[in-house]
Amino acid sequence: MTKDLSLQPPKQRIMLTGASSGIGYQAAVRLHRAGHCLILPCRDYPTATATLNRLEEDTAQACSGDNTISAPIMDLSDLSSVKHCSDQLLSNGKPIDTLILNAGLQYTGDAKAKRSAQGYELTIAVNHLGHQALTQRLLPLLEAGTHPRVVVTASEVHNSQSPGGRFGKPAGLGVLAGLKTGAGFEMVDGIAPFNADKAYKDSKLCNVLFARELARRLSLRASDISVLAWAPGLVIPRSKGGFFRYSRVNNEWGQRLFALVVRDLLRLSESVDNAGYLLMRLATEQAFNSARFSYHSNSLNGPGHHLFEEANVSVEAQDNSLAMSLWEQSAALIGLPAELPPDSVSQC
Ligand SMILES: NC(=O)c1ccc[n+]([C@@H]2O[C@H](COP(=O)([O-])OP(=O)(O)OC[C@H]3O[C@@H](n4cnc5c(N)ncnc54)[C@H](OP(=O)(O)O)[C@@H]3O)[C@@H](O)[C@H]2O)c1
Repeated sequence: MTKDLSLQPPKQRIMLTGASSGIGYQAAVRLHRAGHCLILPCRDYPTATATLNRLEEDTAQACSGDNTISAPIMDLSDLSSVKHCSDQLLSNGKPIDTLILNAGLQYTGDAKAKRSAQGYELTIAVNHLGHQALTQRLLPLLEAGTHPRVVVTASEVHNSQSPGGRFGKPAGLGVLAGLKTGAGFEMVDGIAPFNADKAYKDSKLCNVLFARELARRLSLRASDISVLAWAPGLVIPRSKGGFFRYSRVNNEWGQRLFALVVRDLLRLSESVDNAGYLLMRLATEQAFNSARFSYHSNSLNGPGHHLFEEANVSVEAQDNSLAMSLWEQSAALIGLPAELPPDSVSQC
């Protein structure tokens, strides 16, 4: 029987940040197996090489040939590195069909703010500012893509009313007074004393506001780029490391105990495999391509069960004027004009 090729999802050119571990790596495995062309920026050469080698080994598929994978160097904590990587991609001029903004970090438990190369608080710099800079810079390539989309890995903790978001200090950006002070800010709201856990929740609220504002700005220029934000649930891998590896409260034994109770006994977490599978679906399935903003949540629906469905973002994340101010303040911090260029395709 001949295969009906019209039923095959088209091969895409996909850029995915945070592919060196966790959810992003599992998504990259599936995307590579499906034959997509991947750009997987990594923060340094050893990480890039190790990621490519591991992908070849795990998929038993070469990273060269038709479904090429490249791993350019891009450290999201350094805006000059984001510019350098973007400039390389722009000069090669190949369209990007899907941009997945997935990299992220948190260092809960640290009493002191860490700093990016430009002096911004590290969680906000990597999770939000670096990604806004990357998106703004690569827009010409995205607008030249086929059924383009941007997928943003946020978290339910962006929502102060969610189970995870209620635990500890909730997300809240105030009137962005911290961001307005420029380098040296500790918290976005400029009020709260530094709290690494809140900084993470704030960064995830920034992700959702950024995604909504990006979609709004794109709709004004009749762009057909879809913008999706999603929350993977609490994801605890079986292997060593994982997202909580930089948390001071979680030393190795603390992390093992946390995993034993939350993952194995209470069964409150999602597997890293399934979270990667969901990210792959968001990046490639036509059903998610609606040329508008949508938010999808993988919420806990009882021990061992998650429900993945379109959901509402938090009340604060629905604030249009906050989304607009955040975009503008962030553009000022990353040194780019807030306005999208009128016809970015012609700049390729
Ligand atoms: N795990 C959860 O429970 C959970 C829940 C909700 C949302 N999320 C979100 O899911 C996303 C992926 O997290 P994960 O669970 O897969 O964690 P992970 O395994 O720690 O992966 C994080 C990825 O981000 C990359 N990254 C961090 N800082 C970077 C930088 N300065 N430059 C470039 N890349 C950088 C890491 O690269 P290195 O390998 O070089 O460190 C890694 O590839 C994050 O946005 C996170 O906020 C996670």
